[in-house]
Amino acid sequence: MTQAHVNITIIGAGLMGHGIAHVLAAAGHQVKVFDRSAEALASLPERLAKLCDLLEVNQAINDRITAHNNLVEAATGADFVIEAAAENLEIKQFIVAELEAVIDPTSIITSNTSALPITRIAANARNPGRIVGTHFWNPPHLVKLVEVVQAEKTSLQTVNKTIALLSGAGHRAVHVRKDIPGFIGNRLQHALKREAIALVASGICDAETVDDVVKHGFGKRLAVLGPLEQSDLVSLPLTKAIHETLMPDLDRTNTVHPYLEQRIAEGHLGMISGEGFRKWTQEEADALRERLNNFLVAQAKAEANTDEQD
Ligand SMILES: NC(=O)c1ccc[n+]([C@@H]2O[C@H](COP(=O)([O-])OP(=O)(O)OC[C@H]3O[C@@H](n4cnc5c(N)ncnc54)[C@H](O)[C@@H]3O)[C@@H](O)[C@H]2O)c1
Repeated sequence: MTQAHVNITIIGAGLMGHGIAHVLAAAGHQVKVFDRSAEALASLPERLAKLCDLLEVNQAINDRITAHNNLVEAATGADFVIEAAAENLEIKQFIVAELEAVIDPTSIITSNTSALPITRIAANARNPGRIVGTHFWNPPHLVKLVEVVQAEKTSLQTVNKTIALLSGAGHRAVHVRKDIPGFIGNRLQHALKREAIALVASGICDAETVDDVVKHGFGKRLAVLGPLEQSDLVSLPLTKAIHETLMPDLDRTNTVHPYLEQRIAEGHLGMISGEGFRKWTQEEADALRERLNNFLVAQAKAEANTDEQD
């Protein structure tokens, strides 16, 4: 479906905000980016130019993006406002209140919050029906999933219009029908982390082995075979048989795992401190970031080529 070009305002010119701006401008929309930080706005053109270089797309995309230090100027006339400011409930509620005073009553406000309930962000809104979650993944210009989160009072029309906008921009927009912590993606990701941490904590294997098992085992096919597709592939009776053995044995810790608490208390914070679950030199950490980036860029380019051929 071809999406008519609309006016979009993005609140927050940071890591997520600039990537989301690129995605929507690349789809032909006019994008205004507001930030209260002069530094963030000053570096925006250079960061956007780098994205076009990285993805080998025309820099003219950036002609559709403007930077603003005044919210009223940035939001007036917006059909959609995507909030990607700091992960803080008061700030997000304040932004909603500021926006409601400026934008058209039919315009949609979305929040890119990682974990705050959309229902709470919309708690004091005059018109909560037009407020919806849009959980993009990092980096938004390379990872195509966006979870569209329907809060208690979000109207279905808001959900559908938001999904149409994001699908039209080439993203895989999925409908999360209830505003639950972690939405869908982070629940799945952290269910896996719970078991991974428990395996290491109980001495079954070390952290490197957990990562090897995922990366060289079932992780290889995850991008083309979701867990439920995989169950259908091997059959539900086989899945059931495995669950009969496994379910009573899987980790059930319902707090932060004590092993994670212990690592942090010992100063093992991750790559930033040279050790987390695993040890990292600066070179190893840099090499991993580069590998990840190259992999995601190659995938994004391959997907773009496939889309062109379709
Ligand atoms: N970084 C990630 O991996 C990731 C992934 C998914 C969702 N998110 C969420 O996206 C949002 C943005 O995250 P980020 O990583 O881009 O953060 P960031 O720190 O890179 O950028 C946030 C920007 O918002 C600006 N800002 C803060 N308060 C503001 C206000 N009141 N008005 C206007 N601008 C304001 C800051 O100056 C900054 O430039 C957060 O809610 C975060 O939880 C982040």
